[in-house]
Amino acid sequence: MLTRRQTVAGFGALPLVAGLGGRAEAQEVVKIGLILPMTGQSASTGRQIEAAAKLYMAQNGQAVAGRRIELIVRDDTGAADVTRRIAQELIVNEKVAAIGGFGLTPLAFAAAPLATQSKTPMIVMAAATSAITEQSPFIVRTSFTLPQATQPIADWAAKNNIRKVISLVTDYAPGIDAEKAFKERFGRTGGEVTAEVRVPLRNPDFAPFLQRVADAKPDALFVFVPSGIGGQFVKQFVERGLDKAGVKLIGTGDVTDDDLLNDMGDAIIGVVTSHHYSAAHNSSENRAFVQAFRAANPNMRPNFMAVGGYDGMHLFYEALKKTNGATDGQGLIDAMKGMSWVSPRGPITIEARTRDITQNVYVRRVEKVDGQLYNVEFDTFEAVPDPIKGR
Ligand code: DHB
Repeated sequence: MLTRRQTVAGFGALPLVAGLGGRAEAQEVVKIGLILPMTGQSASTGRQIEAAAKLYMAQNGQAVAGRRIELIVRDDTGAADVTRRIAQELIVNEKVAAIGGFGLTPLAFAAAPLATQSKTPMIVMAAATSAITEQSPFIVRTSFTLPQATQPIADWAAKNNIRKVISLVTDYAPGIDAEKAFKERFGRTGGEVTAEVRVPLRNPDFAPFLQRVADAKPDALFVFVPSGIGGQFVKQFVERGLDKAGVKLIGTGDVTDDDLLNDMGDAIIGVVTSHHYSAAHNSSENRAFVQAFRAANPNMRPNFMAVGGYDGMHLFYEALKKTNGATDGQGLIDAMKGMSWVSPRGPITIEARTRDITQNVYVRRVEKVDGQLYNVEFDTFEAVPDPIKGR
């Protein structure tokens, strides 16, 4: 290897070498810190987002507007006090230009005041309660909202002779958002939610709730459980024989999460859900994304968390391009507002007023494709904003 002195001597072109050296030094580091559950019940969310963020960087280079991007990933274990402590450390000690991730709603709520106080952009890549973006003017979101994902399945149910539904949701903010959105939308068409059941977030046991559903025999069971829990839920649904008892399972796509879907077994075939992302989404952007994600992570299929992480990195890169590498928080957040692009999930916009995401929501049915289970999209609700905040 050549030393610097040998290089200079060897080429005898001091101004050129000095010029290159100068540029390298000017390439100051810009850090982005991802706070993710890498362990615990929501570890799959962390794994998916980290893999997608690293893929984005591998595909788009480590340098933006003459600055070198450094990704820091920290595990908050899914505990809000840890999220808050890590956010503080990243902002104060690491001097990150932005924080991202946020695997669960309470974790996003915990970090929001720090984003406001320090004027640090906070990119919510996973959590999906509508009200999150209202917790700080420095929050933007690249995931989705539960009311946004829920309305299309309520409409589909109404159109498909489903009249009486029991709703079963995880008992925390996004579950309550889903429950309310389903009841309201389904009720408008004359449908009826005959019972609303809530199950705990931590270590849920669905059996007693599913027994109530089996006894009541509704036309369908509407379900929201967060990413990572769908497998346990479906196993118990099938064990209770609900699939054979004629109770249709419907929900947002969190329950048929691509990360777990292929291990759910054939009993899940035919389940209809609505969501903003399926690994089977039929577009050239998505085919390229899925192929590259699998090449970099051989035993993984990207899910909706991955696409939130991938687009969150895109938003950060593009904002930094717009500011010519300036990292002032207000400048970055202003650059993010109103941005539109074609994601692997389809066209998306970060609304300037709400800082929330407008996107297509697809109605999908679980089918076997080449021996693998997928959510196959068959209907599209185009450019859906969060229905609570609007555009
Ligand atoms: C949230 C978490 C999830 O894993 C999900 O699928 C939807 C919402 C949340 O906590 O906001």
